[in-house]
Amino acid sequence: MTLSKTDLYHEVAQQAQALMAGEKDVIANLANLSALMFMRLPQLNWAGFYLLKGQELVLGPFQGKPACIRIPVGRGVCGKAAETGLAQCIHDVHEFEGHIACDADSNAEAVVPIYQNGQLLGVLDLDSPYVGRFDQYDMNGLQNLVNILQDAIA
Ligand code: SME
Repeated sequence: MTLSKTDLYHEVAQQAQALMAGEKDVIANLANLSALMFMRLPQLNWAGFYLLKGQELVLGPFQGKPACIRIPVGRGVCGKAAETGLAQCIHDVHEFEGHIACDADSNAEAVVPIYQNGQLLGVLDLDSPYVGRFDQYDMNGLQNLVNILQDAIA
């Protein structure tokens, strides 16, 4: 049986809650959450995190191929999310000016900013080889995962 997107995100959120409950260590939670997303969400080629260090985003825990290590705030999809504080749902990365191509296979991208006690901690980043892979259901589901993470590490 194939789950609807909403039901899938609901299940993944329950798993994320169980994995992170009572655990405040940021790296441990990001590592498990990247593994959970890569394992459960279909049609991804990368799932992970960039962490804000000064004026740059620096590669954090992830699943997928090795990726760019440093992204200046304001550059690329991740840098735009960090600069604006707004989640980014990119239908086709080739139409996003300044997109940073870490992997030529990536065609769609979803990025959600993460806060720790009101301060920007970094961003969640998902890549897909499929144009149009991410929609509003994904963005809602991913924001919910980020909320669970933020509650755990607050
Ligand atoms: N494509 C991203 C860079 C990070 S990788 O996708 C893992 C961007 O434009 O910010």
